[in-house]
Amino acid sequence: MLSTIIYRSHLSDDVPVKSLEELAVKANKNNEMYEVTGILLFNGTHFFQVLEGPEKDVLSIYEGICQDPRHHNLVELLRDYAPARRFGNAGMELFDLREHEKSTVLQAVLDKGTSKYQLTYDDRALQFLRTFVEATEKENYFEIPSADYWDFITTETAQDDISADSSDTAAGFTFQPIVDPFACQVVSLEALMVNSPTDAVIESLSQQSHDEIYEADLKSKKHAFALARKLEIEGQSLSINLLPMTLVMVPNAVDFLLSEIKAQGLIPEQIVVEVTEKEVVSRPEEVEKAIRQLKAAGISLAINNFGAGFAGLLLLARFQPDKIKIDRSIIQDVHKSGPKQAIVQAIIKCCSSLEITVIAAGVEKPEEWMWLEAAGVCNFQGNLFAKPKLNAIPAVAWPEKS
Ligand SMILES: Cc1cc2nc3c(=O)[nH]c(=O)nc-3n(C[C@H](O)[C@H](O)[C@H](O)COP(=O)(O)O)c2cc1C
Repeated sequence: MLSTIIYRSHLSDDVPVKSLEELAVKANKNNEMYEVTGILLFNGTHFFQVLEGPEKDVLSIYEGICQDPRHHNLVELLRDYAPARRFGNAGMELFDLREHEKSTVLQAVLDKGTSKYQLTYDDRALQFLRTFVEATEKENYFEIPSADYWDFITTETAQDDISADSSDTAAGFTFQPIVDPFACQVVSLEALMVNSPTDAVIESLSQQSHDEIYEADLKSKKHAFALARKLEIEGQSLSINLLPMTLVMVPNAVDFLLSEIKAQGLIPEQIVVEVTEKEVVSRPEEVEKAIRQLKAAGISLAINNFGAGFAGLLLLARFQPDKIKIDRSIIQDVHKSGPKQAIVQAIIKCCSSLEITVIAAGVEKPEEWMWLEAAGVCNFQGNLFAKPKLNAIPAVAWPEKS
């Protein structure tokens, strides 16, 4: 099958532009052997390359290209299949956009093509090419420094694990902070019950077991609040996870939460209830009613795992939470993926219009964090800053320029 990969990247500082001719000659020879064709555009700073050919060979050449230190900030834009090559001439031609007049440069690139349709059919690959040549997306190129630009320094000591003296707490909770790294501030502490039932587990249970799970889900929050008091979180915001149907199925659930919050010397305004996107959509009217009660009591609402379920933007049209947490599967390697970047930017734009705070969950790599900061995200959760700790508050590793 004929496959296509398109990426863009940034020429490394120490690479002379003159050396690119030699690079192209070698690439040309190598590609010819594998029947990989395409075009390599260069605008003086950025590369844009179309690679076409048998899937296995395109992938193996692309993997080599990804490791090449002569460029960086490589972002994959498209991985697709096509009936015919757009650039079918053997090898790989280097095309320097600067050597052409602005008004004719796109046509000059297209003239290198072997596809008879050129831009007449809505071919995504050629649309990407046009966007690069016309530089209409340049404001979305975030040039992030390499991972070692930042050190992550743990300054405060973690609060001791209090599990030993918490025999009255039946449920174990891990605590993981949500941080604003540039402000060096813990925005909230998330208490997550160990071994809490997942959506997948719940789906396979009988109605009676459902009721028990919702009841247990609610009651476990008593222990989360008690632990929070023991850990002396004081005015710190505390995030807890609830199955949204718990709020619907357990009578007086919100009253229970409010009385437990009060019993532990906490206030509703410091509590954030995180619900997963998936369950909210299955019974929206009832969940909405319960959420109104939460909000009326002063408790904030966050949508967890945003983007991983199927509700997505329709959910935001029905009601607006205070925060959304973008799912870790979207955050992972966001600095290298054009589709993920487009999704995150759309979420940021939408949430900004609705004054909803965006949190990036599951951040593990400095590059993910740097890209997200550049895109406008300020709140982060993930092992890069602090791993979840059982019955204790972990220390935070704050970024410092190395
Ligand atoms: C922008 C850019 C585009 C490249 N394009 C190709 C290419 O199309 N084909 C190729 O074989 N090598 C290409 N290379 C070079 C590869 O990254 C790598 O150096 C080459 O495959 C030799 O790998 P090896 O030294 O591991 O054998 C490119 C490098 C850069 C920086």
